[in-house]
Amino acid sequence: MDKIIIDKDIRKAHTPPATFYTEDAYFEQSKERIFETSWQYACDASEIDAPMTQYPFSYMPYFIEEPLLISSDKQGQERCLSNVCTHRGKMLVESKTQNRQISCGYHGRCFRLDGSFKSMPCFDDVEDFPTEKDHLKNFPLERFANLLFTSMNPKISFEAVFQPILDRLSWLPLDQLEYVESSSKDYTVQAHWALYCDNYLEGFHIPFVHPALNNAIEFDKYFYETYAYCNLQVGIAKEGEPYFELPPDSPDYGKKVYAYYYFVFPNMMLNFYPWGLSLNIVRPISKEKTIIEFKSYKFPEAHFNPEVNALDETELEDEAVVESVQQGLKGKTYNRGRYSPSMEQNVHHFHTLLFDKLYEQD
Ligand code: FES
Ligand SMILES: [Fe+2]
Repeated sequence: MDKIIIDKDIRKAHTPPATFYTEDAYFEQSKERIFETSWQYACDASEIDAPMTQYPFSYMPYFIEEPLLISSDKQGQERCLSNVCTHRGKMLVESKTQNRQISCGYHGRCFRLDGSFKSMPCFDDVEDFPTEKDHLKNFPLERFANLLFTSMNPKISFEAVFQPILDRLSWLPLDQLEYVESSSKDYTVQAHWALYCDNYLEGFHIPFVHPALNNAIEFDKYFYETYAYCNLQVGIAKEGEPYFELPPDSPDYGKKVYAYYYFVFPNMMLNFYPWGLSLNIVRPISKEKTIIEFKSYKFPEAHFNPEVNALDETELEDEAVVESVQQGLKGKTYNRGRYSPSMEQNVHHFHTLLFDKLYEQD
């Protein structure tokens, strides 16, 4: 595999070669290099609603599938632990439960709520037991608003990822966002996960692909900002469209902001609208298949009309172009393209991070 280089100067840079999106090796490499080292959504904090709760989940379902659990102790302190018994590997917690300890249903090994080994029947004669290896591995656990995140092998500070969002939007009642199940759903796209992200990262295509959205926002006023591990697109509302009531200390005060579109490297979007948040999690399945989880959260008191807020139309328009690119890349003629410096800086930012991480030395 040739080393892929994305020039840091967007005016000189070429987009990733088609092989990045079509070859198995890159797809496999990205598991360890990109996804295990980044922060991934674990669950909503509301799942851990009481002390001594154990909530099982999978780190990147369908892709990495590491069995993990969130455990809250008697004081309500939450930890992220391995959900695999250190004896012979059975999964410990199969569904959300409440218990004073974590016990294995196979041969009775027990762990404390902090993951440390507690007891094991019929092991009296075992030498050099228990050791460190008999405890459940602890993983970091962080929170943004009411969303919990973990990482299998964090190489990026959580703050570096989320602080720019807090700096700009801390005036919003982020801690009070409420999950709206009825307007949350999953979409399946027949395309590589990074193609879906590439498309999200520019508003360049809005006039061509999204007629309704194009009628709602001012294309000429759309703007982009990049940070260390996230980037932002801001849509400005046309006359008659909803917009945020911004406080005077907002850097955007005076603008009619229709939406803040944050991309969090490598696979998450936090789209803030006056009614709330649309969280999109991009889940790779294979190099030609991706699931996009759309989770809606509304601000208390916000006027939330599921029909108006249905993001379906835009999503289906995006899926159609992304699937078309997937087909185009499989052709023989295309290899690499160039970037628009005024429209595609967030796409370029994503690509530079991708290959920095892919080739990062341990
Ligand atoms: S696998 Fe858990 S006690 Fe044996
Ligand atoms: Fe789009």
